[in-house]
Amino acid sequence: MNSAAVWKELEARARMANPRRITQLFDDDPARGPAFSVAALDMLFDYAKTNIDRETRAVLLDLARSSGVVRQREKLFSGAPVNSTEGRAVMHWALRLPKDAVLQVDGVDIVRGVQATLTRMDRFATAVRSGTFKGQGGKISDVVNIGIGGSDLGPAMAVPALAPYHDGPRTHFVSNVDGAHIADTLRGLDPTTTLVIVASKTFTTLETMTNARTAKAWMAAAVAAPAAQFVALSSATEKAAEFGIPAERVFGFADWVGGRYSLWGPIGLSLMLAIGPTNFHRFLHGGAAMDAHFRSAELLDNMPVMLALVGIWHRQICGYPTRAVLPYSQRLARLPAYLQQLEMESNGKSVTMAGTELELPSGPVVWGEPGTNCQHSFFQLIHQGTDVVPCEFMVAARGHEPDLAAHHTLLLANCLAQSEALMKGRSYDTARALMVDKGFAGAALEQQTGHRIFAGNRPSTTLMFPQLTPEMLGQIIALYEHRVFVEGVILGINSFDQWGVELGKELAVALAPVIRGETPADDLDGSTRNLVAYLRQTDGKNT
Ligand code: F6P
Repeated sequence: MNSAAVWKELEARARMANPRRITQLFDDDPARGPAFSVAALDMLFDYAKTNIDRETRAVLLDLARSSGVVRQREKLFSGAPVNSTEGRAVMHWALRLPKDAVLQVDGVDIVRGVQATLTRMDRFATAVRSGTFKGQGGKISDVVNIGIGGSDLGPAMAVPALAPYHDGPRTHFVSNVDGAHIADTLRGLDPTTTLVIVASKTFTTLETMTNARTAKAWMAAAVAAPAAQFVALSSATEKAAEFGIPAERVFGFADWVGGRYSLWGPIGLSLMLAIGPTNFHRFLHGGAAMDAHFRSAELLDNMPVMLALVGIWHRQICGYPTRAVLPYSQRLARLPAYLQQLEMESNGKSVTMAGTELELPSGPVVWGEPGTNCQHSFFQLIHQGTDVVPCEFMVAARGHEPDLAAHHTLLLANCLAQSEALMKGRSYDTARALMVDKGFAGAALEQQTGHRIFAGNRPSTTLMFPQLTPEMLGQIIALYEHRVFVEGVILGINSFDQWGVELGKELAVALAPVIRGETPADDLDGSTRNLVAYLRQTDGKNT
């Protein structure tokens, strides 16, 4: 079957699946649990609680084949310019290649370059952590990473995720151009023992450069040589030099590392400072292990491929517009935000590789919060709202708090209970019996029963892993990166550009002088002109 025929077949299968109960699939197929799961690298990805049957899965695998997933995967790992709109290779995975790997692209020894930068990062992090590298007031006590998007979300997610391994300086993240962010962060910090990292691939991003200048002024007020406590992480090394950061503290990376894929290299410096080079390398090994799995496993046994196919089934075939990511892990609280950029900046596009309009829905809205907190906020809607929200649960088999094992048991029980409840629901008969037990009768019984029915049949997947170690975090992040890639290939879009963020940035540059009152508001649309008028009346004019 060609790709168009496969899509048609899948649509037909979705119509067939629509009235079917997921529980029925378990009744029909006693082996469904293990058969609809992928075990790899100590992780278990369970997708049995979805309405995918064996035939549908076979067609989804056909879709992956006919869309060229295997061919594109080879292209990705060959260093070919798969980011065609920017004419770039996509090689963030090379940042986690083992030292002895061999990778030459266009005559350049990629591994050597990556390892050279990594060694510089290791040395610098060791110097800071040991106190050999000092601030003017002594050993560095605090690190402030200034960056946004991919230059923030990766380390801002990973540092709390790996809190049990955090034995370096305190780490803070400033991203928002809202002055409140930097003000609240710097308040209470000692500039003489603070290291400021300016993380920006382009070194031009408005938010980051504004915050970097503010941090420099803050440092200059207390320290004779403020630039001595600044570090730059960037592809634009000359711009970092113009900002006054000396070359020995500029950590560069190539343009084949996309912003939202950049945690594995210099952008991960704040993470390395927090957990140390050894643990950072463990994180890289985890990512590399997932790369090896993705490159070699058969499609059916391939975790990123199956995760992607389940995603395609729910979004493009069944039409569910959003997907919730629910880590049952307080330390992964920032993972949903990280995945929002990774997935939505990559696959939130309505144009194909060829520049034509995408005839399918783009990637879904991704959102979420850690469990069990989410159960007390939006789970009402997930269980009883009118929209189906496929849920992606994830949880570690054990925590890092052996003395609090009872907490972890409850965490696990809640995670499992939610996916079960979503699938099974509660029927009219069961709900009615419960209300009878509570003493309701007549019209009140019917009314109370109605509120307690759960339609069920709501799909979810669960990713389980032994413990949230640096290796495991590396595996999880690489798993999601490859999932995004596979979904992008199937949709026929370029997952590696982000033209959709440009327009708003351009308009903001033009609006700043209007808000300052330097240029007239006359050419603005009526709504924006009205909003500007309000700002002027309320003295919201900034200079
Ligand atoms: O908002 C778009 C974006 O370009 C992201 O893709 C990127 O991660 C972020 O801005 C930050 O960019 P930079 O690292 O160049 O400051």
